[in-house]
Amino acid sequence: MSRPTILRVPPISPQLHDAVGERYDALDLPDEGRDRFLAEHGADVVGIVCSNVGSVDADLIASLPRLGVIANHGVGYDNIDVPAALERGIAVSNTPDVLDDAVAETALALLLAVRRQVVAADRFVREGRWLEGGFPLTGQVAGSRVGILGLGRIGRALATRLEACGCTVSYHNRHRLPDVPYSYAASPVELAAGVDSLVVVVPGGAGTAALVDGAVLDALGPDGVLVNIARGSVVDEAALVAALQEGRLGGAGLDVYADEPRVPAELTALDTVVLLPHVGSGTHVTRAAMRRLTLDNLASWLADGTLRTPIPELATRDGDA
Ligand code: DGY
Repeated sequence: MSRPTILRVPPISPQLHDAVGERYDALDLPDEGRDRFLAEHGADVVGIVCSNVGSVDADLIASLPRLGVIANHGVGYDNIDVPAALERGIAVSNTPDVLDDAVAETALALLLAVRRQVVAADRFVREGRWLEGGFPLTGQVAGSRVGILGLGRIGRALATRLEACGCTVSYHNRHRLPDVPYSYAASPVELAAGVDSLVVVVPGGAGTAALVDGAVLDALGPDGVLVNIARGSVVDEAALVAALQEGRLGGAGLDVYADEPRVPAELTALDTVVLLPHVGSGTHVTRAAMRRLTLDNLASWLADGTLRTPIPELATRDGDA
C-alpha cells in the first residue's frame, strides 16, 4: 500500500526529518528551483511538517492541491499563512504545553543574567581583570516587580518561577483573567510603568507587531529591563536599540529578533544586553516531546482527520509565544 506523501519544509531538525522519512513518503522543499519541484510533486503532497521558523506561505499552500494538514513543530505558528490554510479547510497543529517549562526557564535565565550581569562577570574573570579589583555591584531579581506581557501557559509557568524568586508579578492580556492572583494592567504602557522588568510572552503575527514600542520602553525607564522570548516582531527593534544606546532603558535579554539569524551589530556592541540564538525551547527533553507531538498530530489527522493539538483558531484556546 502506498504511504502518504509529506513535505518537509526546512529548517527542521535532523531527528524530525528522519522520523518523518521513516513513516511516510517524504519530500524536502528545496531552496532553489521550488517552482519546478512543486510543479512536479505538488499534487502528491497531503501533509506538511515544518518548524516555527519555516515559512509556509499562501503561494506554497496554493501549489499543493491535496494538502490537508500542516503539523508545526513549535508553539508559535506565525510562519504559517493561517487564513490561507483555513480558507481551504486545511488542519493546522502546533506544540503547546510541552515546552512551557523550558521557555519559562529561558525567560528567567535571561532576566537573572541581565540583572546580575552574569555574562559580563564571566568575561571579567576570563580576561584576568579580577586580579586588578572586584566586579562592580549589580541589580537583583529578588524583591523586584516583574510584568508579564501575555499571561498564557508559558506566562503562568514563568509567574510561578518569579514568585519563588520573591518577585511581585503583574500582567497585561487583552482581557483580565478571572483565576490569577496577579494584578492586571490595562495596557502594555501601564504594565511597563509599574514594574522593574517586563517579559514579553505574547504570540507573534500581525496582531502583536511592535506592541512593545518606544512608549512602552520609555515607561519601563532607565533602570528597566526588557526580556523577549516571544517573537522579534513584537518589539520595535530600532526603538529598542535607540533606548539602550541612549540609556533610556537599563538592559535587555533577548532570545528572538526581527530578522533571525541576523542580530543588529548595535545590539552585539552593548554590554547591557544578553543575547541568545532563539533557544527558548531548545532542550533535549523538550524538543523530543515537541517532536512526538508533531508526529502524533500528523498521524492522528491521517488516521481519522482529528488533531491532538489544533491551533487556537481551530480549537478556541489561548495562544502563547
Ligand atoms: C516556539 O516554539 O514557537 C518558541 O519559539 C519556542 O522557543
